[in-house]
Amino acid sequence: MTMGSEITVRPATAADVEQIWLLGATLFTWPSDQWYREQAMTLFPPEDAIVAVDGDRVVGHTKARTMTLTVPGERTVEATGIAGVTVAPQYRRRGILRAMYTEQHRRTEAAGLPLTIFTASQGAIYGRFGYGPTLRESRVSIDRRFAEFLPTAPDPGGVQLAALPEAAEAIKAIYDRFRQVTPGVQHRPEASWATRFADPEGWRSGGTGLFVLLHADGYVLYRYHHRDSGTEVEVVEMRTVTADAHVALWRTLFGLELVTRIEAVLSEHDPLPYLLTDLRLVRTEARYDGLWLRLMDVPAALTAREYRADLDVVLAVHDPFRGAGGTFALTARDGKAECVPTSAAADFELGIDVLGSLYLGAYPARVFAAANRLRVKDSGQLEALEYAFTADRDAVLGWHF
Ligand SMILES: CC(C)(COP(=O)(O)OP(=O)(O)OC[C@H]1O[C@@H](n2cnc3c(N)ncnc32)[C@H](O)[C@@H]1OP(=O)(O)O)[C@@H](O)C(=O)NCCC(=O)NCCS
Repeated sequence: MTMGSEITVRPATAADVEQIWLLGATLFTWPSDQWYREQAMTLFPPEDAIVAVDGDRVVGHTKARTMTLTVPGERTVEATGIAGVTVAPQYRRRGILRAMYTEQHRRTEAAGLPLTIFTASQGAIYGRFGYGPTLRESRVSIDRRFAEFLPTAPDPGGVQLAALPEAAEAIKAIYDRFRQVTPGVQHRPEASWATRFADPEGWRSGGTGLFVLLHADGYVLYRYHHRDSGTEVEVVEMRTVTADAHVALWRTLFGLELVTRIEAVLSEHDPLPYLLTDLRLVRTEARYDGLWLRLMDVPAALTAREYRADLDVVLAVHDPFRGAGGTFALTARDGKAECVPTSAAADFELGIDVLGSLYLGAYPARVFAAANRLRVKDSGQLEALEYAFTADRDAVLGWHF
């Protein structure tokens, strides 16, 4: 694909790797060590990447792999996961990203995958390409010294201190059980585990290596930061399949008596604040939208997930970037859905980016209605749509890519 001037978008080759890495290191501070680079290339083989070149200079790059994503109803869907989106600073705002995404979408369509996902570095770029943020998380900071559990909070125990790598297989198995029941979580390839466990120095922000707490149904990976104000714990990854594992692991973290503060990322409805005598101790420092999602094929995507309640609605979906929109009748019975194009009048009108935000059940439909991004013919139907799209568990990003 030629974009005018001398800039061309084409498949990457092994010969582009050095320049791709220079771009990624410059814009995302990708570590330079050879081992890390090999893991990254195992995760995202360079021959599946796309580059924009100006003559023989690589000036833009995206990479992708097929991921198995859990969606509401404990179903899985094959999705394209895009990463490493970069355009050289001196080539910005000339349409290079747009051209690379057009090619990426063409490939996804050719592969017949109904969804595309990624993690976004900025919030204002991807709505125009049909993506919406699809989960909600908060980074919280807790003064451990004052954290006390309510008398009603369970105390199931069952946590062990464990060392990596002895705990590695147990951690992977728990992650996989968590994945199967949690929307948004992707199957995790071995190379992602390898880099997580290797814990490159550049990921530590001056903290220690990883420590492990293990429960039969959950785990925590965390590190210490020794600061002037005291020793702090950063929870790097916590996955729990059961409520008992969740409370048992938090009780153990709060038992680290030499620690002043604990920092962690919690999903929207994490019960931690409600286990404590003072819920304000779980102080929100930042909010994240962790994973972005686009429906590539509306009927295929909407029938790939289950619904919490029966539903009969007609959706008019706008997709100016790819033209995958249209008017669709969505019917759900006992969780299972049918979705077909229709000429019937629409009950709801919305952008495909908004449908992406509703897809994993984390964003309520009413907030988009209030923002005039979801237009409703009969306001009585809004509640039904919102409830049907919600999920039993908060959507979570499984592994960062
Ligand atoms: C973000 C980035 C990839 C954009 O590349 P680009 O080639 O300049 O983008 P394009 O020229 O194709 O722009 C496409 C559209 O997005 C808009 N856009 C691009 N970057 C934007 C930004 N940072 N904020 C808001 N809008 C942006 C453009 O204005 C253009 O809008 P239009 O549809 O109205 O024409 C590039 O600036 C970059 O590499 N940034 C640093 C790394 C990064 O953030 N990558 C994203 C990782 S998720």
